[in-house]
Amino acid sequence: MTDLPMPRDLPEIEDTGRSNPDPRRPIGELIAERLSRRAALGGLAAAALASAAEAAPAPATRAHDVGDAADAGPSTLRFPELRHRYSQRDSVAEGHEIQTLIRWGDPLFADSPAFDPLKQSAASQARQFGYNCDFLAVMPPVRPGTAPAPAPAPTQVDRAVLWVNHEYTNTNLMFPGLGAGPQARGRITAEQVQVELMAHGGSVVEIRREAGRWRYVRGARLNRRITAQTPMRISGPAAGHPRMRTNADPAGTRVLGMVNNCAGGTTPWGTVLTCEENFNFLFGGAAAETGDQAAAYRRYGITANPPYSWHRHVGRFDLDQEPNEPNRFGWVVEIDPYDPESTPVKRTAIGRFKHECCTHAVAKDGRVAFYSGDDERFEFVYRFLTARPWNPTDLAANRDLLDEGTLSVAKFEADGTLRWLPLVQGQGPLGPENGFHNQGDVVIEARRAATLLGATPMDRPEDVEANPVNGRVYVALTNNGRRTAQQVDAANPRAGNIHGHILELTPSGGDHAAPTATWTVFIAAGKPGVDPGTQYHRATSDQGWLSCPDNVAFDSKGRIWIATDGAPGAAGVADGLYAADTAGVGRALTRLFYQAPAGAEVCGPILTTDDRTLFLAIQHPGEERGSTYETPTTRWPDFTPGMPPRPSVIAIVRRDGGVIGG
Ligand code: FEO
Ligand code: CA
Ligand code: CA
Repeated sequence: MTDLPMPRDLPEIEDTGRSNPDPRRPIGELIAERLSRRAALGGLAAAALASAAEAAPAPATRAHDVGDAADAGPSTLRFPELRHRYSQRDSVAEGHEIQTLIRWGDPLFADSPAFDPLKQSAASQARQFGYNCDFLAVMPPVRPGTAPAPAPAPTQVDRAVLWVNHEYTNTNLMFPGLGAGPQARGRITAEQVQVELMAHGGSVVEIRREAGRWRYVRGARLNRRITAQTPMRISGPAAGHPRMRTNADPAGTRVLGMVNNCAGGTTPWGTVLTCEENFNFLFGGAAAETGDQAAAYRRYGITANPPYSWHRHVGRFDLDQEPNEPNRFGWVVEIDPYDPESTPVKRTAIGRFKHECCTHAVAKDGRVAFYSGDDERFEFVYRFLTARPWNPTDLAANRDLLDEGTLSVAKFEADGTLRWLPLVQGQGPLGPENGFHNQGDVVIEARRAATLLGATPMDRPEDVEANPVNGRVYVALTNNGRRTAQQVDAANPRAGNIHGHILELTPSGGDHAAPTATWTVFIAAGKPGVDPGTQYHRATSDQGWLSCPDNVAFDSKGRIWIATDGAPGAAGVADGLYAADTAGVGRALTRLFYQAPAGAEVCGPILTTDDRTLFLAIQHPGEERGSTYETPTTRWPDFTPGMPPRPSVIAIVRRDGGVIGG
């Protein structure tokens, strides 16, 4: 998602981008300041981007606007490229078809009530598909390793188990009568807050393709809702830590729910990893400024008066009642989608920050590397490496593999080297002198530990994902308009980087366990010839340039599919999905394949293993200036009078049944 988990017309609740207060200053100076200064950070950002929604919305039309069949040039992706535009409707390259798979409020279970946005309750939302879908995992229909005989690779995938994150709530678009703007969150009732809790989390849902059309299976055996109230276990070095203990959980080992789950990943042993990102906006209270943990709160962007009102209605989100509750969020959660009764586990060894993702790549010796971005301006890229190899023949033996390993943070050297710096208590500056008495301290305050080690502050790390064909790791850095000329470095080379860039890492020796890698810029986004410092294939068209790369996926040929979040709508550019070769003469020639409806970002791109279906999560449609429940700037995807926009998962197939993108 955007790092602004709220409508884009609300500059006063934009993240400060100052949790890492001054990434280019000497570390000693930072420490001294941290010890002496308790003053709140300065005012929130004042500048607002004009939204395209201020212009008159485009008239509704059923037709998808498609571009001409542009010359694909040297690209292996032969689809006719779309034209940039901004519309209430979404669009896909000609020859392809958009199928709405599941929408906010759709009933998951036989006894789920039908969706009625005027009659929402916590009980109904808990049985329905949640809000603001983000990360998608498409898993085999049966648990890997349990099929009676090795099944041949399917020529056409037509069944799957789908995992979906539900990242956050657009209060003013969910409930009637709240108006626009940040005031909407302050006006909601305690009952509506309970609905929001149930709209967070994730969904497991079985899906099928029948007669060429994908649909979800209501009442399927594996269907499950996980919410901000689902009991979870805490494991790893922070489990039981004094700073994890609350009145409801004096042992510090159990927590209710997960929130703000943005992107994620999977494991080789068939579980899902779902990542808590902007949890800070849900906690509030005077202790943010006066409490014992004020400095730590500040490093994670926790404030006394957050934009959401949960802390006024639910005691555990009130810092003055439960000062440790926020320490129990910001983690990677492992979920077994094949067992609806299983208890999700927060794996604290992977560190606590605003996790965008947690994607895996197997090292040469069978240990597994998990890559994460911390999505905030001037935050870092991380890698967790398991202590032991994974066991492909006994999947249950991997059950607690994520509890032991080494968390490292990336330092990008100007010579094109990347060094992974281990966050290990007792090593270097991570000792008692800096408040790190055990590894629990380190993972709870992973950001501060990484700063002390000298990690490279990045331009908002989003997806970090290995390409299974070439073994390289792609780091989407979505933007950082606040980087100054004095703060640029080789890996973040542009001041005022409003369009972002993508780095390409090559692990040393091709081994994801190596302590080093080399890196290069894959693309630097923005409009060529207009924005400074852009970098693409020189044949990239006027339609193929992009802004704000967020999540990426790879098809079986190793081509990259790039979803965006933050395109300049005012300039007539919607967020979308772009594809490019990563090798050969078409390398880095991005081409526009799909455009989102007004206000939405594109999330969770994933292709089936046969490359014949592409799933996308379309998040926060209608999230624009002035948009309200009654008069949203789009009613995508239903376009039914009275029905608000509904975040939805879509399936894209080719009309001739062929491979997506050609
Ligand atoms: Fe939720 Fe980093 O986007
Ligand atoms: Ca994201
Ligand atoms: Ca984002």
